[in-house]
Amino acid sequence: MDKKKLGACAPPYAAVDAALAGKMPKSLNFADAAGLPLAGLTALQALRDELGVTAGDRVFISGGAGGAGTLAIQLAVWMGAEVATTASPRGEELVRSLGAATVVNYQKQKFKDVLSDDDGAFDLTGGQDLSDSFAILKRGAKAVSIGGLPEPANVRADFGAGPLVSTALWVAGAKIRRQARKRGVDYRFLFMHPSGPGLDPLADLVDKGELKTVTDRVFPFEQIAEGFAHLEQGHAKGKVVVQM
Ligand SMILES: NC(=O)c1ccc[n+]([C@@H]2O[C@H](COP(=O)([O-])OP(=O)(O)OC[C@H]3O[C@@H](n4cnc5c(N)ncnc54)[C@H](OP(=O)(O)O)[C@@H]3O)[C@@H](O)[C@H]2O)c1
Repeated sequence: MDKKKLGACAPPYAAVDAALAGKMPKSLNFADAAGLPLAGLTALQALRDELGVTAGDRVFISGGAGGAGTLAIQLAVWMGAEVATTASPRGEELVRSLGAATVVNYQKQKFKDVLSDDDGAFDLTGGQDLSDSFAILKRGAKAVSIGGLPEPANVRADFGAGPLVSTALWVAGAKIRRQARKRGVDYRFLFMHPSGPGLDPLADLVDKGELKTVTDRVFPFEQIAEGFAHLEQGHAKGKVVVQM
């Protein structure tokens, strides 16, 4: 869906530009398929388009057990990367089953004390994790975040924000940009770009059995408030879906 129209759960009344719609994987039911577009496109654009992951790369993905992380781990592995991620013991088995070679229990250990010389970082958790991810990268490597603070370029290009918002974000993001520069890391924030054709490779991978959606829970529409409350707890393993 168009990003400017996000924020409501009323599909019978939502007009979606056909250019942003893709074919549903044949092998999925509606609930599992619903978990694929936003998180899948985000992960694909971060890993392929921003980080340019290639075979043999060592990639760090923070927060691998959630909706975006479960797809990102599999996509990075499919691209030939060796993946390290952070998870609690509740998510460790899941992220390992998806292909993560190294799992750091973020409740017990700082990943920056364990990892080093990685080729790319995909940050899903923001805050201290984002700045710590710069420390584990090779100089000249890239870090892309969806969990941190958007950059002025994002809000201008993606939401048409004016100079006031851009300037406020530029000031707020000065520290993180400075930290990235100091470490020689090319850092950027990503807002997923909706795209119908962009969904095709994801659907193909699912139908070939090379990518699986992980659905944490499905809530009936009548329980949508409970669904959001569950998501906001921040412990989902995979995607939380509302069944219309
Ligand atoms: N910019 C974009 O275009 C875009 C697109 C999609 C998503 N996002 C953002 O990306 C972020 C991630 O989305 P998501 O859907 O993957 O989130 P999510 O599904 O809510 O993530 C929940 C998972 O994160 C784990 N977790 C929580 N804190 C963690 C930490 N400090 N370190 C490692 N794992 C941690 C939890 O594991 P435990 O409970 O086991 O600890 C849980 O399994 C969100 O902020 C979302 O808003 C941005």
